[in-house]
Amino acid sequence: MIETPFNYTGSKFKLLEQLLPVFDYNKPYFVDVFAGGGSIYTNVVDRYQKILVNDVISDLIGIHKNLILGDDIISETKELCPGKNNPTGFTELRNSYNDSPTPAKLWGLMLSSTNNMMRFNQKFKYNQTYGDRSWNANTDKKVETFVNHIRQYKNNIKFTSVTFNELYVNKNAMYYLDPPYGRIKNEDGSIGKKQISEAGYNAFWKENDDIKLYEFIHQINNEGASFMVSGVLNHDGKVCWMLDKLISEGFNCRPLNFDYNKVSRKGEKETTEVIITNY
Ligand SMILES: C[S@@+](CC[C@H](N)C(=O)[O-])C[C@H]1O[C@@H](n2cnc3c(N)ncnc32)[C@H](O)[C@@H]1O
Repeated sequence: MIETPFNYTGSKFKLLEQLLPVFDYNKPYFVDVFAGGGSIYTNVVDRYQKILVNDVISDLIGIHKNLILGDDIISETKELCPGKNNPTGFTELRNSYNDSPTPAKLWGLMLSSTNNMMRFNQKFKYNQTYGDRSWNANTDKKVETFVNHIRQYKNNIKFTSVTFNELYVNKNAMYYLDPPYGRIKNEDGSIGKKQISEAGYNAFWKENDDIKLYEFIHQINNEGASFMVSGVLNHDGKVCWMLDKLISEGFNCRPLNFDYNKVSRKGEKETTEVIITNY
């Protein structure tokens, strides 16, 4: 399995072994609706005729796209990275990104941020803090492995950056949806106010997006396309409204094994991550 060079928050890399056997390979096309760090499309690209890679963060899609095209973004990002012990350089890069964003600046920021986590405020300005880290030998290794693999398929991959429900639904496609966390379910079954958990890209997730996503999933199903949606069903006693609703409608649900307590050291909080499919 190929690890992409982004250390992306919410990456499904550790769950790939459990996801790969479950995708519907009878469809010729694959759509990675919420591609993020790209660990999914990267590892199914040899199984489909065409792949569509989408994420609402256009500079993130720009990184993927530029990496498949050539080495310019690699040298540019290396040059932009502030390096270690350089908080001032980080602040300058962040200001520069917020004034005039480019994919290379975003990648440089991601590599230098606290815990490698990107984070945006409600005005979509990058606001993560300096993590005293940078491009390193491990990044070089990961980039080399990634580009050697992905460039073989460059004619089969298309990139888009739109909000999920602007994507065309094609009955010949397998849609993989790995959205930001959804809102919780109240005791009476209605939708609660809070998200089940938080992530740095939640600024791009609007209040009613989980309802729109629920409708989009039904649209995929009604067209005769295949879908797999993954997400946290239960966390610390709370239930995700959208996933719970799909399960109650009879779609297939499988739990994933992932010991979040070990990874995130969240004490005793119990988390169940699931995948739901229509096939
Ligand atoms: C859980 S992450 C996906 C992680 C990915 N599967 C991986 O392995 O790296 C969710 C992604 O959804 C994206 N996103 C947020 N709102 C979106 C929207 N309205 N439409 C499309 N993508 C969106 C975020 O930018 C983020 O990259």
